[in-house]
Amino acid sequence: MRLIDGKKIALELEEQIRAQVAVIQGRKPSLAFILVGDNAASQTYVRAKKRACAAIGILSTLTHLPSTISQDELLREIDLLNRNPNVDGILVQLPLPMHINDRAVMLSINPEKDVDGFHPVNIGKMLLGEDHGFLPCTPHGIKILLQKYNIPVEGKHVVIVGRSNIVGKPLAAILMQKRPHCNATVTIAHSQSEHLTDITQSADILVAAIGKAHFIKKEMVKPKAVVIDVGINRLCDGKIVGDVDFENVAPITSWISPVPGGVGPMTIAMLMQNTLYCYNKLYNSPSLR
Ligand code: GUN
Repeated sequence: MRLIDGKKIALELEEQIRAQVAVIQGRKPSLAFILVGDNAASQTYVRAKKRACAAIGILSTLTHLPSTISQDELLREIDLLNRNPNVDGILVQLPLPMHINDRAVMLSINPEKDVDGFHPVNIGKMLLGEDHGFLPCTPHGIKILLQKYNIPVEGKHVVIVGRSNIVGKPLAAILMQKRPHCNATVTIAHSQSEHLTDITQSADILVAAIGKAHFIKKEMVKPKAVVIDVGINRLCDGKIVGDVDFENVAPITSWISPVPGGVGPMTIAMLMQNTLYCYNKLYNSPSLR
């Protein structure tokens, strides 16, 4: 078993981005965060993303709005950022309060400032396999991790457990593309899947994006499989664990990504990269990937 060190790869990428930002004359790239309400996990994630911006030299602002804000008021805040030429990227941290429609919010962000890659235009471009447009940060980070560790993906069976719009669906769209380091046979399994163990057992690469601590047990994993753990779950004692029963699963894998220190740091590195792309107005160039 070997560890996929997402923290190390993310730091290397962030160092490259930092060097590119350092030589920019005049205004540096800037990222505007919007946080609605007091979700503790969201506050932690936004803090970590802002810390990364500061370390890299990317300017960042935080608009912290009360959970009672109306959808119209939130859309007005986004519109201000869309029209502000000093704002390159906009990130609205999810989840949003129940009375706000996520889709309407994502649709209101200028696709050229959509560093999360959640706007339907960017999702469409990703699905079509176009070179430009932004990829969502977590699935893009997973693709880069596999690539950096020279883990073969082409022709392999990738099983993704979890069908979220943030991870499962976009990762499937990325890895099935007809392009280098993709070309995978992708299966998405989810909470309604019958014979889940049979499906996960057939995975050459198993991606756990369920959101349940220790959900993936040793019996569900084929010996020598590659296991990517996207989960971030806080246990009663405060410990952060993934969706994989790491202790028992790790010994039978060929490669496994730990939590923390696996996929999480890559999400932030890809966010920094998308922000630099926004600043450099690369959105319509074919050179994003
Ligand atoms: N909530 C959980 N993951 C994400 C993410 O990647 N971006 C945003 N905006 N919210 C999230």
